[in-house]
Amino acid sequence: VSPAPLRVAFYGAGQVAANASEILRDRTGIEVVGAFGRGERAAALGSGVDVVVIATTSFLRDVADDIETAIQAGSNVITTAEEAAFPWAEHAAIAARIDLVARDRNVSVLGTGLNPGFAFDALVLTVTGICATVRALRVERVVDLSGFGTAVSRRIGIGFAAGEFAEGCRSGRITGHMGFPQSMRIVASALGVSIDRIDRTIEPIFARETIETASMRIEPGATAGFRQRYVAHVGDSVWFEASFIGHVAPLLEGLETRDEIAIDATPPVTVVTSPGMNSQSGSAAVIANSVRRIAAAPAGWLTVADLPPAIAR
Ligand SMILES: NC(=O)c1ccc[n+]([C@@H]2O[C@H](COP(=O)([O-])OP(=O)(O)OC[C@H]3O[C@@H](n4cnc5c(N)ncnc54)[C@H](OP(=O)(O)O)[C@@H]3O)[C@@H](O)[C@H]2O)c1
Repeated sequence: VSPAPLRVAFYGAGQVAANASEILRDRTGIEVVGAFGRGERAAALGSGVDVVVIATTSFLRDVADDIETAIQAGSNVITTAEEAAFPWAEHAAIAARIDLVARDRNVSVLGTGLNPGFAFDALVLTVTGICATVRALRVERVVDLSGFGTAVSRRIGIGFAAGEFAEGCRSGRITGHMGFPQSMRIVASALGVSIDRIDRTIEPIFARETIETASMRIEPGATAGFRQRYVAHVGDSVWFEASFIGHVAPLLEGLETRDEIAIDATPPVTVVTSPGMNSQSGSAAVIANSVRRIAAAPAGWLTVADLPPAIAR
């Protein structure tokens, strides 16, 4: 008798759900339910399936009730909300409450994807496996942003005039790519390091010509990308530097997509992926490759550092 399939439901019928569910539908031993859109919340979250994937928004406050509802129904939860990758720094009360409910229901919660969830944290930690001592870390990504849908593109800062971009960043309406503080804290926590301060800068890159992506038309002078830098300090020293250059048409700026992890250790270690990891297919794969590990994980709110590596199975 073959074992019962692992049942996985998707809430949020967007790009991540479409791509990750397509991967899972091809796998034996997994049954995909949904994806469920905005109007089908009860069906998605109340189903009591083995794993509910919540792929709706980036902000923990927006998904907290959804996570709790799915947990109460007895499901493990994976969410792509960037703030959920390490919730304790900025949302300690929500994290503590949901962690308690998850333990009570004997299920687990994980925030993951490619970034956060892999490129700036899980993979970095894996690379530290060949280091005796880690003094400092630098991770840089150059990313093609053309594959994102309109909602995500606008939220990260694409298609704005200079003044709008600056104002959006000030007000928090424009976030740039999210998840860097969370990744840094996942790595710090796993390595037993205490971060004192994280500084952040973001600079726009303006289109020099009209650029059409699958979801947007960007006129000359509007933002087509940005350079982000996050620097985590321990005392007065830089401990983790994260740099992210995103553009909807990187080659127009002479940029080639790539990822580099450089570890200041003895001897120093540098790992490069070239071309760089693809945001859409990479995130979908990490989510698909996480359903079995979250179903097998101990109860509570976990990070990718608590789990075995995501593998393509
Ligand atoms: N950690 C990572 O590496 C990673 C990777 C990929 C994505 N993400 C994040 O995951 C989220 C989803 O990404 P995506 O590319 O799939 O986005 P998307 O294509 O825009 O899809 C989002 C889906 O969720 C729905 N939705 C949005 N807000 C909702 C809410 N408050 N309640 C219920 N449903 C809601 C949308 O419905 P409507 O169409 O009706 O608005 C849409 O069906 C984004 O915030 C993205 O930044 C993180």
